[in-house]
Amino acid sequence: MRYFGNNIKTLVNNLVVSYTDQGPDDAPVLIFIHGFPLNKSMWNKQVEELKKNYRVIVYDIRGHGDSDAGTEDFSIRLFENDLIMLMDKLKINKASLCGLSMGGYIALNALVYNPERFDSLVLSDTSCLADTPEAKTKRLNAINTILEKGVNYYADESIKNLFAPESFITNENEIILVKEMISNTKEVSICCSLLALSARKETCHKLSGIEVPVLILVGEEDKITPPEVSQMMFENIKNSTLHIIQHAAHLSNMENPEEYNNQLQRFFNTVYKKTTKVLTGNDNSIMSQLSSKLNILLSF
Ligand code: MLT
Repeated sequence: MRYFGNNIKTLVNNLVVSYTDQGPDDAPVLIFIHGFPLNKSMWNKQVEELKKNYRVIVYDIRGHGDSDAGTEDFSIRLFENDLIMLMDKLKINKASLCGLSMGGYIALNALVYNPERFDSLVLSDTSCLADTPEAKTKRLNAINTILEKGVNYYADESIKNLFAPESFITNENEIILVKEMISNTKEVSICCSLLALSARKETCHKLSGIEVPVLILVGEEDKITPPEVSQMMFENIKNSTLHIIQHAAHLSNMENPEEYNNQLQRFFNTVYKKTTKVLTGNDNSIMSQLSSKLNILLSF
């Protein structure tokens, strides 16, 4: 049986995992994977839009949002395994994945190691590269900063790199939300995730083996996973499309949701060969008139 709604709790891999499941029962399944150290609510604007035509699932990676952390050492492969076990638990045989940054690392691993489970992939503001020695040192410094100055300080510092300068004027709400998401993540989970990120393996040599359609999205001002890296992935994945999101940096889905959602709609409509159009206000009123006429007829 499918549970439908927001913040549903289920046991996966001996872990309580929190997820949201919206949209029609029989529609193709889209699973969204959030970035570090955020949670599933970063996808709210995508869920609202895509649930009209798709079954949309967003979930909290272990140690983030409302999911338990468990007792195992964090790694991208462990996160990937959790995703596959969540799909098994929800009896989802096949889905499309959309992962942003750390979510993209997980999505790429999931596809490479379980190609039969996925119809398509969206790689957003992410990379197939491993950390350089300098990046690993930065992660260790970040752990020291968190232990010394706390998570709130880390949240304030992080948002400076996550958003484009103009987003501080145009997207104040999103900035408050992201600050809250980081501040509400436990110190230990942030530190363990930083270790997992720094130990992750490169997956670039796997790109040429990808057979499913791939959409690559990146904010034009993303400095964490810059557009050049997306360009490199685009050149190495045969069935891929690259789109640069304007007025956005690393959190392109939150900074420019209109353009981001349009790209997702277009891509998934092609993957699933959909011709259904989203109902306009006018269409909705015609539908409601028809349905009340039908009800009158049926009541005789
Ligand atoms: C993320 O947004 O998930 C992180 O920036 C990923 C990373 O630091 O490698």
